[in-house]
Amino acid sequence: MQDAIAYPEYQTMAAETLTIVDNRTGKKYELPIANGTIKALDLRQIKVSDDDFGLMTYDPAFMNTALCKSKVTFIDGDKGILRYRGYPIEQLAEKSNFLETAYLILYGELPTKSQYDEWVHNITTHTLIHENIKKLMDGFHYDAHPMGMIISTVAALSTFYTDAKHIHDPQSRRKQTFRLIGKMPTLAAFAFRHSLGRPYVYPDNNLGYTENFMSMLWKMTEPEYTANPVFAKALDVLFILHADHEQNCSANAMRGIGSSFVDPYSAIAGAAAALYGPLHGGANEAVLHMLDEVGSVANVPAFIKSVKEGNGRLMGFGHRVYKNYDPRAKVIKQLADEVFDVTGRNPKLDIALELERIALSDEYFIKRKLYPNVDFYSGLIYQAMGFPVEMFPVLFSIPRTAGWIAQWEEMLTDEEQKIARPRQVYLGYDTRDYVAMSKR
Ligand code: ACO
Repeated sequence: MQDAIAYPEYQTMAAETLTIVDNRTGKKYELPIANGTIKALDLRQIKVSDDDFGLMTYDPAFMNTALCKSKVTFIDGDKGILRYRGYPIEQLAEKSNFLETAYLILYGELPTKSQYDEWVHNITTHTLIHENIKKLMDGFHYDAHPMGMIISTVAALSTFYTDAKHIHDPQSRRKQTFRLIGKMPTLAAFAFRHSLGRPYVYPDNNLGYTENFMSMLWKMTEPEYTANPVFAKALDVLFILHADHEQNCSANAMRGIGSSFVDPYSAIAGAAAALYGPLHGGANEAVLHMLDEVGSVANVPAFIKSVKEGNGRLMGFGHRVYKNYDPRAKVIKQLADEVFDVTGRNPKLDIALELERIALSDEYFIKRKLYPNVDFYSGLIYQAMGFPVEMFPVLFSIPRTAGWIAQWEEMLTDEEQKIARPRQVYLGYDTRDYVAMSKR
């Protein structure tokens, strides 16, 4: 038996081990278990001969691989639990606001009054964007998808803030954090105004984070924009709910790209691109298209039948981690009632409720533990508030920026992390000689 590889944390927990007997060689290996995991690298010692590379794990889509140790977000998918830094999402949605929650996610603790005031000041004074970014925005076609505009312009910010490449300097990271959280709503609102052909509205530092965003979106000729308090509150709660979600596709993109030590703007552009896809942050857009396709409550049974027959998916349902009701979807469902009290009921809500009712009592969905996720109801609220569907993933990307930065910061300061570089199982040709074109 070979000694276990020396990792301090694993040694202290050495009482828990996994014994592996290699039937090919008869050798026995004892691997330490810590935090419910074995080190994948420990498997490398399992070889049949000296020139053998050693055993690897094969885990497409990281179905059973912990990429990192994290202290940011906890999810128990079976119980439907989500906590940021230990605080239940339901309490944060009820009692906190987005900027306070962003601080919590980034720095690990709820801020004191003075920390909070300083934080809000720092974000608020970083909301303006360089005039040339505005010109860049102007270059997009009138019907450009705003998510494409966000991805491009946030990447372009790296060319304006060249100090951002000093990623090992905590002060520089702090500055980019203010800039990113401050400027994302501005980029989002400018993209929205561009698509409408309306003049851009500059940030108003007298307004709160969501109110300022709403002002940049919807202010017309009035000297000062007054946000509808129900909408402002709803948007703020939605921002809290979307702020982080541990190692999801876009957080993984952020960590993976950031692991090459690129600047955070470039990494955020990559993370936002990952978010854009319909299986991730683009799902709420897809939900609305799906509800349009269903058309009426009467068509719901036929639609569910066709999903079960393999014709597409019930968008907004299912999750890699949640095998229970997504706790964010519960909060959003309540929020929808408050918004619909102001806007009038979105007729698509009845279709959504019927889809949920039938799906949750159907064997196909029960067996696969498919429940509504965060995107099932959020789009209905956004639409009722006047957002076009193309803006939905953009609205997701604004708060998720806080989560992406927290994941990036954690990755950069974790001594165990290195450039992300998975292995592969090569199943292609063995070596073969080049054949001249005339002979192929
Ligand atoms: N509708 C119908 N069937 C589904 C759905 C769905 N929404 N989701 C999963 N299934 C089925 C699959 O067909 C599969 O069935 P099978 O075992 O008979 O082949 C089984 O459930 C497991 O599905 P997987 O695709 O293996 O699950 P995975 O964990 O890889 O996918 C995902 C999770 C991508 C979220 C998936 O549930 C999905 O596509 N949902 C719809 C898109 C969506 O709402 N995405 C938003 C997720 S939340 C977020 O990112 C913010």
